[in-house]
Amino acid sequence: MPTVSDTLGRPLRDLRISVTDRCNFRCTYCMPKEVFGRDFHFLPARDLLSFEEIIRLARLFITLGVEKIRITGGEPLVRRDVETLVAMIATLPGLHDLTLTTNGSLLWRKAQALRAAGLQRISVSLDSLDDAVFKAMNDVDFPVALVLDGIEQARAAGLHPIKINVVVKRGMNEHTLVDMARHFRGTGHILRFIEYMDVGTTNGWRLADVVPAAEIIATINAAFALEPLEPNYPGEVARRYRYADGAGEIGVIASVTQPFCGDCTRARLSSDGQLYTCLFATAGHDLRALVRSTAADDDILEGLERIWRRREDRYSQLRTALTPDLSKVEMSRIGG
Ligand code: GTP
Ligand code: 5AD
Ligand code: SF4
Ligand code: SF4
Repeated sequence: MPTVSDTLGRPLRDLRISVTDRCNFRCTYCMPKEVFGRDFHFLPARDLLSFEEIIRLARLFITLGVEKIRITGGEPLVRRDVETLVAMIATLPGLHDLTLTTNGSLLWRKAQALRAAGLQRISVSLDSLDDAVFKAMNDVDFPVALVLDGIEQARAAGLHPIKINVVVKRGMNEHTLVDMARHFRGTGHILRFIEYMDVGTTNGWRLADVVPAAEIIATINAAFALEPLEPNYPGEVARRYRYADGAGEIGVIASVTQPFCGDCTRARLSSDGQLYTCLFATAGHDLRALVRSTAADDDILEGLERIWRRREDRYSQLRTALTPDLSKVEMSRIGG
């Protein structure tokens, strides 16, 4: 199988496919209401890649070495018939891992269909179990109970393991982290605490709002003793810990204080067919124009190879006081 490496010797292994730039939440750190309000222009349907176009590209990415696909958004479950896309991807030969990141709001009615379509596992974002804190963070008054219901449905459907992603923001939810740990210990679900990142330009990110992973781990460790674990695979984004009493594992994603660009094998395909080679990219490569042209598969492959070979992104490692001011693409557009 032909593989391709970038200027830093990193192969292309993961493809994150965003299927919509829309979301039914307005998390303050991702889609602040003042920007993503009633008059915000989301992508019109004609600009979105069709499922067939996505599959054609996914197949080509697999040819270049992609083994893992994650479906993201926006909120991927608001894309109509997303389970049909899951089923189409699940049958692609050469793929070892297929998963999806969701805010969990629609899981209570979609979990079964997603599993039946061939989804293997799932990541659910949930920032707090405290209803008031969660509602303040999702900013649309969405209750915790419905997300917990969705997680339960996902478990019952056999999506396993379930990862629960918690974005930690200073002064917002840091006081509820131990409650999260207590709740999910012993369930088999894996909690992952994510440092608040300077993605996009609209969330008003400040370094002072970041709770460093070391502090998060110290807080949990004070309540439930933790021991570090080895990564599951080279380049794993989360640093793993286990509860010393055997109640399971947690992780921290420390993009700000402990960047992990050195092993970054991730490409991102936005819902309008732009290819981004970094979460913090300021520009993409227009694959939609290519798939809607007369280009043959070999031409597209050659284009993808050229893009990856020239890749030199390592934003998190280069982050300085100035980089947050770059005109970076929004998380809801580029995919989480
Ligand atoms: P697993 O396949 O379960 O190991 O997932 P993962 O570790 O890739 O986790 P996931 O895709 O759920 O990512 C969790 C969070 O980590 C994302 O929502 C982002 O906030 C952050 N993240 C993921 N990939 C990157 C990346 O390439 N760069 C940076 N800076 N952050 C990332
Ligand atoms: N910093 C860290 N994580 C973020 N996410 C969205 N915006 C940010 C940010 N600024 C997370 C969501 C979800 C995933 C898609 O990305 O909470 O877990
Ligand atoms: Fe929606 Fe996820 Fe962004 Fe929250 S973090 S606004 S749930 S896409
Ligand atoms: Fe990869 Fe860019 Fe994230 Fe670094 S900042 S890990 S290069 S996506």
